[in-house]
Amino acid sequence: MTTVQHQDYMQRALELAAQGIGSVEPNPAVGCVIVKEGQMIGQGFHRRFGGPHAEINAMVDCRNRGFDPAGSTVYVTLEPCCHTGKTGPCTQALIEAKVAGVVAAVQDPSDKVAGKGFAQLRQAGIDVTVGVCEAQARRLNAPFFKFAKTARPWVIAKWAQSIDGKLSWRNPPADGNWISGAQSRQDVHRLRQRCQAILVGVNTVITDNPRLTIRIPGQSIERPPLRVVLDTHLRTPLDCHLATTAEAPTLIVTSESTIHNNQDKAAAFRKVGVDVLPIPQSNQHPDLPHLLSELGRRGVQQLLVEGGPAVLSSFITQHLADEICVYIAPILLGQDGTADMTAALNASVMQEFYDVNIGTFEQDVKISALLSNDYTRKLLDPS
Ligand SMILES: NC(=O)c1ccc[n+]([C@@H]2O[C@H](COP(=O)([O-])OP(=O)(O)OC[C@H]3O[C@@H](n4cnc5c(N)ncnc54)[C@H](OP(=O)(O)O)[C@@H]3O)[C@@H](O)[C@H]2O)c1
Repeated sequence: MTTVQHQDYMQRALELAAQGIGSVEPNPAVGCVIVKEGQMIGQGFHRRFGGPHAEINAMVDCRNRGFDPAGSTVYVTLEPCCHTGKTGPCTQALIEAKVAGVVAAVQDPSDKVAGKGFAQLRQAGIDVTVGVCEAQARRLNAPFFKFAKTARPWVIAKWAQSIDGKLSWRNPPADGNWISGAQSRQDVHRLRQRCQAILVGVNTVITDNPRLTIRIPGQSIERPPLRVVLDTHLRTPLDCHLATTAEAPTLIVTSESTIHNNQDKAAAFRKVGVDVLPIPQSNQHPDLPHLLSELGRRGVQQLLVEGGPAVLSSFITQHLADEICVYIAPILLGQDGTADMTAALNASVMQEFYDVNIGTFEQDVKISALLSNDYTRKLLDPS
């Protein structure tokens, strides 16, 4: 088999893997292709969290098509698992199926696997090749790799702005304080689906009273993301949607002294199920690196920071954001706009972007890209 053929099959496996994004998190998105005598005899991907892994789905597809995977080469975008989690170990299934070879894009970084899957396959006499299309595979599951390495979430800074950088109307129109169009807003719900937590600043709660839930027509949400409010002085209104709706858990992040000075309000939040968490302060606000470690401990692998400008710029200027997702609407708000993102970012220094993607939703332009920070630089060039 030539290197080019290996790459072609792995490209197909990567395409399949990408179809799981938004449904499998916090698991990695994985794709698999089975090849025998130059023919692709089975394909599969990890479709949903808790469901069968890509290798198992590809073998089912192979057998459903009347083929036997024995003697085949299996292309998979991540090292096969060797432990029993929600499903059995994939290494065992591959060994029992008597496959001849496994070509993997990248080793699984999590402690439970970390090369042990490859070792089991080799021990069973299966030929193992690692590193085909590795950079693409790492990028595809960047949040999974970051979390495994740092125990902190991958941070996505998302906002919608007018051409002149305003995130809000000064006097919102009757149909809502929207900047972007309906299709862009639907795309944000798909972005939320990738995440285990959504964070806003207290001013956004006071101004917009958001619900911060995933709302996709025809889809029920089994694991709603945690809603997080940065609120140093416990200004969050007790009657806001985040406190009065039980559709998703809510966490207010504040300080020890604020809780001490506002015991009744803190108790009232806790009574309705809202978690009020004191964390150490830095620059008179909850310390963000500390918060990221705490969210990591709570299993948050991807955090969506939704604003407003003060909070977004805090993450960006402290080099804590890994990815941006910006929707630019073809409107200039001038004095009719407020929440100026350009002004909020004045304290920042030049930052580079990688892996830039541009799309359109009706008349809006969406720019998504990775921010250059210590982690993303290593991700794209692990050498
Ligand atoms: N278009 C969009 O995508 C979008 C999205 C969200 C919001 N918005 C708009 O943005 C506006 C609100 O933005 P904003 O910039 O005034 O406020 P914000 O970012 O929503 O909240 C800022 C407040 O959060 C608290 N905070 C706690 N920790 C912080 C930290 N580390 N860094 C920064 N702030 C921290 C501070 O209040 P304390 O000191 O009291 O803690 C701060 O004043 C609203 O008009 C809203 O409509 C637009």
